Amino acid sequence: MSSSSLHQRQQQQQQQQQQQLLSDPNPLSPPSNSPFHRPFAFLFTPTTLLVLLSLIVVLGVFVPWARTPDSLFRGAGDRSSPAAAAAKWRDYTLAEAAAFAAKNGTVIVCAVSEPYLPFLSNWLISIARQKHQDKVLVIAEDYATLYKVNQKWPGHAVLVPPAPDAQTAHKFGSQGFFNFTSRRPRHLLHILELGYNVMYNDVDMVWLADPFTYLQGRHDIYFTDDMAAVKPLNHSHDLPAPGKKGRTYICSCMIFLRPTSGAKKIMKKWIDELHDQPWSKKSKSNDQPAFNWALNKTAGQVDLYLLPQVAFPSGGLYFKNQTWVEETKGLHAIIHNNYITGFEKKIKRFFEFGLWLVDEHSYESPLGRL
Ligand SMILES: *[C@@H]1O[C@H](CO)[C@@H](O)[C@H](O)[C@H]1NC(C)=O
Ligand SMILES: *[C@@H]1O[C@H](CO)[C@@H](O)[C@H](O)[C@H]1NC(C)=O
Ligand SMILES: *[C@@H]1O[C@H](CO)[C@@H](O)[C@H](O)[C@H]1NC(C)=O
Ligand SMILES: *[C@@H]1O[C@H](CO)[C@@H](O)[C@H](O)[C@H]1NC(C)=O
Ligand SMILES: *[C@@H]1O[C@H](CO)[C@@H](O)[C@H](O)[C@H]1NC(C)=O
Repeated sequence: MSSSSLHQRQQQQQQQQQQQLLSDPNPLSPPSNSPFHRPFAFLFTPTTLLVLLSLIVVLGVFVPWARTPDSLFRGAGDRSSPAAAAAKWRDYTLAEAAAFAAKNGTVIVCAVSEPYLPFLSNWLISIARQKHQDKVLVIAEDYATLYKVNQKWPGHAVLVPPAPDAQTAHKFGSQGFFNFTSRRPRHLLHILELGYNVMYNDVDMVWLADPFTYLQGRHDIYFTDDMAAVKPLNHSHDLPAPGKKGRTYICSCMIFLRPTSGAKKIMKKWIDELHDQPWSKKSKSNDQPAFNWALNKTAGQVDLYLLPQVAFPSGGLYFKNQTWVEETKGLHAIIHNNYITGFEKKIKRFFEFGLWLVDEHSYESPLGRL
């Protein structure tokens, strides 16, 4: 349900309009490095030379700090030629990228294609407010995203080849979409095998508080329920009972894993389930049912932890039950904009709930203005 809504795309036109809306040209020009391009004869008297020298020292010390936040986030990447930078990022491996992004042995990952850059930036602003942005690694699903993110925020995006076919990867219910989401457990398993804790998020999420404080104990895997029905505050942290379809409705949108054999077992099972129940015209599945079957089948062998609903509500609860939102005010950690399909509708809803941050707060985003 999560990814379904996330990847449901509207027509190309609307996206382009959206991107135009969001891509105001940056009015700030890069700082000039050489204010002294014209040597004049008077410069050669000892006094002016001394004055000049002190000026250069002062500028050298202070100018780097006086740059705009946008340019501070840029690294060496964008000073080299575009072709050299492109070659560098094209060959950047998941192992290198995870080693760069991981802090305290933990990486936060998402998977993003170009039309979702505004959502990525929105999500990043909310993470920056909780001071966890340095751990973020963006798994780019196309080369445009890889280059753009790394140009603005060097080292924080990686592409695991082959890039999914952009034409077929995003239509919800299509085989291309299924193939695209099927990559998720592979990426997560790879990161676990490299030895990191990993938190996966869909980018149609906003953090209101630090989710890491909820990852209590030493369980293998932490996840959230995608159901909309209100649960008691003291609900159990075990896997819920299966629903109507004989399986649970755990969200594949927000998962935290420790690099344990139990967590790896679930990711392998998820990959197997995706193989065993491949996409068909009839089922038009995404990756979430397979994840739930993997949880069901490994339940006895893996240490699972269901996160509290009050902190991690589904979009079906948060956006649809105002009474509940008011009753539980201050207890929410991550809000997921699901139970709705369409790029524009998601933006509108985030906007109406004060969760669309990219327009007014782009300076807080590690990506700056897009
Ligand atoms: C690293 O982990 C320790 C122990 O869990 C924690 O106290 C500390 O705040 C963490 N540091 C960062 C930068 O996240
Ligand atoms: C999806 O993956 C299958 C198996 O790898 C492949 O045969 C098929 O061509 C892919 N389809 C699309 C639309 O990407
Ligand atoms: C939650 O609290 C209620 C009443 O306070 C109690 O009856 C119930 O057993 C508790 N449930 C759990 C899972 O602890
Ligand atoms: C797994 O699914 C089956 C079929 O719906 C169900 O009977 C069983 O209780 C589930 N197991 C767990 C641990 O949830
Ligand atoms: C909305 O939330 C309130 C307060 O928690 C709850 O009593 C009510 O059943 C919820 N409504 C629906 C439709 O779930």
